[in-house]
Amino acid sequence: MSQTFDFDRVIDRHNTDCEKYDGRERLFGHPDLTPLWVADMDFAAPPPVLAALQQRLDHGVLGYSQASDNLFQTITNWCQQRLNWSLAGQHLLLCPGVVPSLYACVQAFSQPGDGIIVQPPVYPLLFTAATTNDRKLLLNPLLEHDGHYQMDFDGLEQLAPHAKMLLLCSPHNPVGRVWTAAELQRLLAIAERHDLLIVSDEIHADLVFAPHQHTVMASLPDAGQRVITAMAPSKTFNIPGLGLSWLALPSASQRDAVNAAFAKLHISMSNPISLVATEAAYGHGHDWLTQLMAYLAQTRDEVLALLAPTPIRVSELQATYLLWLDFRAFGLSEADMMQRLIHQANVGLSAGSWFGEAGHGFLRLNMAAPRALVLAAVERIISTTATLNIRTAP
Ligand SMILES: Cc1ncc(COP(=O)(O)O)c(C=O)c1O
Repeated sequence: MSQTFDFDRVIDRHNTDCEKYDGRERLFGHPDLTPLWVADMDFAAPPPVLAALQQRLDHGVLGYSQASDNLFQTITNWCQQRLNWSLAGQHLLLCPGVVPSLYACVQAFSQPGDGIIVQPPVYPLLFTAATTNDRKLLLNPLLEHDGHYQMDFDGLEQLAPHAKMLLLCSPHNPVGRVWTAAELQRLLAIAERHDLLIVSDEIHADLVFAPHQHTVMASLPDAGQRVITAMAPSKTFNIPGLGLSWLALPSASQRDAVNAAFAKLHISMSNPISLVATEAAYGHGHDWLTQLMAYLAQTRDEVLALLAPTPIRVSELQATYLLWLDFRAFGLSEADMMQRLIHQANVGLSAGSWFGEAGHGFLRLNMAAPRALVLAAVERIISTTATLNIRTAP
C-alpha cells in the first residue's frame, strides 16, 4: 500500500494545552526542547475520525450521551479482524480510560492488603493501581539479556501464592515485547495453579510490528473467567485526550462488579465526542493504521541504524512506538544523563526509573513524530554522548 497519509507533516502542538509540548518547562525546565516523552503521537488523528467529529460538532448539541449498539458491533468487528479475537461471550464495558479501568478492577476483585503482581520495568500506573488502593505490590521484575526481555516464570511461581491478581502489560510498555502465545499460556497455567485473576492491559495491542503477532490473552482456549482485558482506541489512533477505553469481562457478574466500583464515584457515562471518534476509528481506521505502522517501522529502522555504532543499546522493538534505550555503558546517574540530554542535545526523554528500579540506566524515547524531527534528535543524542567515557560492559 502506498503512503497516502502524511505522517511527515509537522503540526505545531504548542499552546494547544498539550502535555507533551506545553509541559516542557514544568518537566524539563526547558520550554524549547524536542519532547520525545509522554506516549501520544505528533500525528493528526485519522481523517475519518476528524470528519466524524466535525460532523458531530456541526450538529451543535453536545448533551448527555449513551453508546449505540453500532459502537459495540464496531469494536467486535475490529477485534475479530485485527486481533483474531471473537468477543462472543465477553461482556463489554466502556470506561473513561485504561488506567481508571485497572483501578476499578483492583477495587472490584481484591481487598485492601491483598497482593497484586506487577512486572517491572513497566508503565508505572500499574504500580499505583495497587498501592493507591492499599493493596500489597508484589514485584516480579522481567529478566533482561542482551536487550531481550522475558518474564521470570520462576519468580511468578514464588509470588503467586501470595497474590490475588496480576496486572499484565501486553504488549509491554516500555520494553516493547509482544508476549508470545506460549509465554501467555505459561503465565495462564501459573495463574490457574494459584487461582490468580489476570487483568491484562492491552492498550498497545494494535501497535505491533510484523512479523510479531499480538495474542489477546483472553483468547487462549483455557482463559475461562481468569482474564479480563483492557483495551482502547486511544494509542492506536492517537485520540488519548478523548478519554475512552473498554473492558472485556468474561462474565456478567464481573462486569457488574466493575460497574459497581465505578458507581461509587457515579462514573457512568461517555462523552459524545469520544463515542463518535471511537466508532469512526474502529470502523474506518484500518488503512491509516496500516500506513502508520509502516511509517513507524521505517523510523525505528533508521533510528536503530544511527544507534548501532554507538554504545547506546536498544531493546528489540516488537510493538509500541516507545524505544527503550540502554545508557548503562556510560555509567552516569540518570539525573546526570537526563540533564546532558536536555541541555546539550535539546531532547526530553522519559526517565527509566519512572518504570521502576529496573529502569535505572535506561531512558524511553517516543518516536511517534515526523521522522526528520526524531532522527535529528537522535543525532543530537549521539553527539552529546560521543564525548563521554565508556564503562566496561553493563
Ligand atoms: C500500558 C499503558 N496502559 C495505560 C495507559 C494510559 O491509559 P489511559 O490514558 O487510557 O488511562 C498507557 C499510556 O501510556 C500505557 O502505556
